[in-house]
Amino acid sequence: MISIAKVVLISCLSWKVLCEPSLVYKMKNIECITIPGFSANASCFIKAINWNKAVAQMDVDLVRPLYNISVRLQVFKKDYSNQFQPFLIDVHINVCDILSRRSFIPYGVMILRVAERFSNFNHSCPYAGHLLARGAYIDETFIPISPPLGLYKLNITIMENYLRTPAAHVGGIVWYVQTMQPVKKKIKHTTNG
Ligand SMILES: *[C@@H]1O[C@H](CO)[C@@H](O)[C@H](O)[C@H]1NC(C)=O
Ligand SMILES: *[C@@H]1O[C@H](CO)[C@@H](O)[C@H](O)[C@H]1NC(C)=O
Ligand SMILES: *[C@@H]1O[C@H](CO)[C@@H](O)[C@H](O)[C@H]1NC(C)=O
Ligand SMILES: *[C@@H]1O[C@H](CO)[C@@H](O)[C@H](O)[C@H]1NC(C)=O
Repeated sequence: MISIAKVVLISCLSWKVLCEPSLVYKMKNIECITIPGFSANASCFIKAINWNKAVAQMDVDLVRPLYNISVRLQVFKKDYSNQFQPFLIDVHINVCDILSRRSFIPYGVMILRVAERFSNFNHSCPYAGHLLARGAYIDETFIPISPPLGLYKLNITIMENYLRTPAAHVGGIVWYVQTMQPVKKKIKHTTNG
């Protein structure tokens, strides 16, 4: 144990970046939207771990199986007048194609890497029954760019057969994430004579 601690300490000293990320993505809030006939029994909340980290727990029951899932991902950033404004990303992603490795579009792959790590949303379509996520968070290993500091809203609308009319709106997840400099722990120095 001691040698592991030493190695970690030495790596921290020599490669500061490893132990102290330059940017943290702290989850502030989460909302899950269910649609009667498609989804039910949603329970979504954030659990604070420390000043820099909070994780999401999510549970939802599917009322009927989903065979052809797509999502619309919209990102908003809060501006100086406290309004959320669209921020660069507004994409439709065919989730089943990503899950079965038929599509590799970057935002889809990012969502999937997070989902596969923290949830049972990790196999090819169809999906049925209970979906859950535990201890989910995002950090800079998932996100290839460094977005500006601020509060972001990620609106993920989940649909079945979206190009077909009428598209069925199945449910949704809204994530509020703060990008910020890590809060550093104050180290008390005892001054000796
Ligand atoms: C929602 O929860 C209730 C109570 O546990 C359960 O009876 C019902 O089957 C659940 N709904 C779905 C779609 O699984
Ligand atoms: C998917 O997630 C579930 C629950 O976390 C896990 O038990 C299962 O092994 C995972 N399957 C794959 C293929 O990763
Ligand atoms: C999320 O997007 C859906 C579909 O575009 C919209 O109906 C809903 O109001 C949005 N929710 C929030 C909180 O922005
Ligand atoms: C699945 O949805 C896509 C649009 O997102 C549509 O082009 C395709 O025909 C659908 N496939 C099936 C089997 O319904």
